Amino acid sequence: MNIALIPGDGVGPEVVAAAVDVLHAVGRTSGRTFATTTHLMGAAALRAGQPALPAETLAACRASDAVLLGAVGDPAFDHLPRAEKIETGLLALRKGLGVYANLRPAKAFAALHDVLPFKPERVAGADMVIVRELLGGLYFGEPRGLAADGSEGFNTMRYTPAEVERVSKYAFDIARGRRRKVLSVDKANVLETSQLWRATITKVAQAYPDVTLEHQYVDAFAMNLALDPRRYDVVVTENLFGDILSDEAGAIAGSLGMLPSASLGDGPGLYEPIHGSAPTLAGKNVANPIGTIGSVALMLRHAFSLETEARAIEVAIEGVLEAGLRTADIALPGGPTVSCSAMGSAIADRIR
Ligand code: IPM
Ligand code: MG
Repeated sequence: MNIALIPGDGVGPEVVAAAVDVLHAVGRTSGRTFATTTHLMGAAALRAGQPALPAETLAACRASDAVLLGAVGDPAFDHLPRAEKIETGLLALRKGLGVYANLRPAKAFAALHDVLPFKPERVAGADMVIVRELLGGLYFGEPRGLAADGSEGFNTMRYTPAEVERVSKYAFDIARGRRRKVLSVDKANVLETSQLWRATITKVAQAYPDVTLEHQYVDAFAMNLALDPRRYDVVVTENLFGDILSDEAGAIAGSLGMLPSASLGDGPGLYEPIHGSAPTLAGKNVANPIGTIGSVALMLRHAFSLETEARAIEVAIEGVLEAGLRTADIALPGGPTVSCSAMGSAIADRIR
């Protein structure tokens, strides 16, 4: 089991270190060997005189069994032209790995009832997974551009039935291991891409008579998600809608720092927390590593079919939360906090 690590920028190296601590605890406890190699990406690569996604890093990721990424991004490089930007490197990594289905599970842990920004009696127990299409839509559509004189900027949203079909199948397959409900989110009252999306997923649904399919427009769903998140099980949507809605789901979970993700395709998957590099927190050992540690659980489940080990991590996360351990982002104002590394060690200890 060869894992390529990309610690990246900002708090990335700290949360990855905590997650690797947990990975090794799982390895020692279960007698399995996880081999890791570490690679440069993002500002860390640019500062070393390399592109945001060095060719060596992409090649190593493709040759691995799974990739664990902390976070990439640094405001010092925001001025770069699009081709050289860190975000463009991240999109190139997703494209290069062919990871078209981005799973973003979001849970409102009951143990965090006192800090949930929404009324706990309305959100505690919410447990959904957003399946975001990751390789199409506005992020990749051509033509795109920004006129040199600033007179016009344009992007293109495009989808083919094959792109919609593969991510839809992923959503239905996952629903079979859950509550068997799929909600497809689109804007079919306005957008042709959404009309194609809706027609295609409706066809895919015929092969899954045991799963119910519902549709909502993205604006209505953005409201319903906040009003009653417990209604939702699997939510599948296109790239940009999924980007936006998964941050909203982060608010329901209490903090973006809590949420893991898995980006899956036909080759090695990419596992990363959904938060960014949080430059203002970097180097202070205060970030929440739970999103990254949860991503390791997703890796064990999806890359290595180690369900028992994956569950052990998830149970350990619930355990430390129930024991009252809080990093700053999920602490009560003025309440006690633990550091990023201490949170990682506490979860690793529970596994041992
Ligand atoms: C995410 C991020 C990225 C995205 C950015 C950093 C390019 O917001 O993974 O949600 O928009 O996909
Ligand atoms: Mg995002």
